[in-house]
Amino acid sequence: MAMFVILLLVFGVSAVSAADDDAFIGVNIGTDLSDMPNPTQVVALLKAQQIQHVRLYDADRAMLLALANSGIRVTISVPNNELLGVGQSNATAANWVARNVAAHVPATNITAIAVGSEVLTTLPNAAPVLVSALKFIHSALVASNLDNQIKVSTPHSSSIILDSFPPSQAFFNRSWDPVMVPMLKFLQTTGSYLMLNVYPYYDYMQSNDVIPLDYALFRPLPPNKEAVDSNTLLHYNNVFDAVVDAAYFAMAYLNFTNIPIVVLETGWPSKGDNSEPDATLDNANTYNSNLIRHVLNNTGTPKHPGIAVSTYIYELYNEDTKPGPLSEKNWGLFDANGLPVYIMHLTGSGLVLANDTTNNTFCTAKDNSDPKMLQAALDWACGPGKVDCSSLLQGQPCYEPDNVIAHASYAFDSYYHKMGMASGTCYFNGVAAISTNDPSHNSCIFAGRYMAQLICFYFLKFLVHHP
Ligand SMILES: *[C@@H]1O[C@H](CO)[C@@H](O)[C@H](O)[C@H]1NC(C)=O
Ligand SMILES: *[C@@H]1O[C@H](CO)[C@@H](O)[C@H](O)[C@H]1NC(C)=O
Ligand SMILES: *[C@@H]1O[C@H](CO)[C@@H](O)[C@H](O)[C@H]1NC(C)=O
Ligand SMILES: *[C@@H]1O[C@H](CO)[C@@H](O)[C@H](O)[C@H]1NC(C)=O
Ligand SMILES: *[C@@H]1O[C@H](CO)[C@@H](O)[C@H](O)[C@H]1NC(C)=O
Ligand SMILES: *[C@@H]1O[C@H](CO)[C@@H](O)[C@H](O)[C@H]1NC(C)=O
Ligand SMILES: *[C@@H]1O[C@H](CO)[C@@H](O)[C@H](O)[C@H]1NC(C)=O
Repeated sequence: MAMFVILLLVFGVSAVSAADDDAFIGVNIGTDLSDMPNPTQVVALLKAQQIQHVRLYDADRAMLLALANSGIRVTISVPNNELLGVGQSNATAANWVARNVAAHVPATNITAIAVGSEVLTTLPNAAPVLVSALKFIHSALVASNLDNQIKVSTPHSSSIILDSFPPSQAFFNRSWDPVMVPMLKFLQTTGSYLMLNVYPYYDYMQSNDVIPLDYALFRPLPPNKEAVDSNTLLHYNNVFDAVVDAAYFAMAYLNFTNIPIVVLETGWPSKGDNSEPDATLDNANTYNSNLIRHVLNNTGTPKHPGIAVSTYIYELYNEDTKPGPLSEKNWGLFDANGLPVYIMHLTGSGLVLANDTTNNTFCTAKDNSDPKMLQAALDWACGPGKVDCSSLLQGQPCYEPDNVIAHASYAFDSYYHKMGMASGTCYFNGVAAISTNDPSHNSCIFAGRYMAQLICFYFLKFLVHHP
């Protein structure tokens, strides 16, 4: 990395440089859940998982308040339904910034504003005001002296890039030049970055078997299967890099060569219907595990090796109320209870993932507790406490008739993990206590069992840079 930067300086080349030296992994927080955890619970989960960067799809006040003083960096969004107003009126934009940004910083570390979402492809009638919206939001930040710390950009679907393979021949759909050129000019002059949504899952699904699954999932490919760009002779071993490079080339085609890229959304669904056979737990796990390793390693792309491409995973929770095919509801890393949908496997990266980075504890019922108090606490946890107690029903894995201690332990532990193991969340009027023994038995798996492996991920960044 250092070497690369020095060479560029020597030759005086204007080139992409990352906003931050190191790439980070963030997570998108969609809220289309029938049982959406409250903002305190969301932030507890983020903290427990060491997630340091999030993207919100709006600027929800309660969420921004919960994120205050958490150390978490936040990208907020101007939703598409507010875009026309913001893009048509400087005053509306200034109001938006006053209400949703200035009111929250510095307590809440807002680092970027995503103005609209995939506007060119999903809301083309708002495209003519997109650049005005960016400029109005930016000038309001300037007026509040916040423009240095908060970047303004707009996320694009990668489908606006045409002929994306080989990447060196890629270009943005020319119909959008009247928007893209001033937008890139804006990103360049304000030191911002291109926000890109990259979905190798859809590229793979739509390719009619042209794209091998392994290539979409970052799995090792035999050299004869690697994709080679015949113009640059660069070798591509995953779709993600090829799409990001296509975006770099498409920008270069319009003479913009120094705008970094942040991938605002990427991921893989863990479940799908009959027409979506590759939306599986295993593929989602493989994609996201490999993605995290790839991004945090600062691998960069073949065109810009070592240049950070920070990336936000889509998404934190499975959104069960999303319309559309089954896969739409299953992009999450966690369910509504904060339990991991799958345990990512990050071994094999040559790193030893230390056990001592985790606080792998459980919350269980005290043996000698008053059964009435236990029952009351159990009822509370499964009721107002919103724990999913379905595993305790007859015929389910944790059902133990006449064993209120076992049932209460299961419910207490679920609540404790749902609350991110925050202090004071394993009390239940004194009938619960923290323990290091995993009470899981047979197929009755307690929350926290998999915590160790999961947390390891988010320490990877630390380990990579402090081996
Ligand atoms: C906010 O985030 C920025 C960007 O990561 C960082 O440089 C800054 O130190 C953070 N501020 C606080 C108060 O944590
Ligand atoms: C928009 O408002 C800002 C203050 O919020 C001002 O500095 C800027 O000049 C205005 N821009 C336009 C195009 O009116
Ligand atoms: C380019 O964009 C225009 C306008 O949205 C659209 O009609 C056209 O289909 C796009 N071209 C391609 C090849 O996707
Ligand atoms: C890019 O720059 C070249 C050389 O200066 C010029 O010929 C070309 O017209 C420019 N292209 C665009 C899209 O501005
Ligand atoms: C990490 O980066 C190094 C080069 O800096 C590269 O050789 C290695 O393959 C990368 N590993 C992964 C998992 O991307
Ligand atoms: C973590 O702890 C488990 C159980 O104590 C042990 O089997 C495993 O080897 C440990 N892993 C590391 C990387 O120390
Ligand atoms: C870690 O676990 C202990 C109990 O062993 C608990 O008292 C403490 O609050 C936990 N710390 C964090 C940061 O969760």
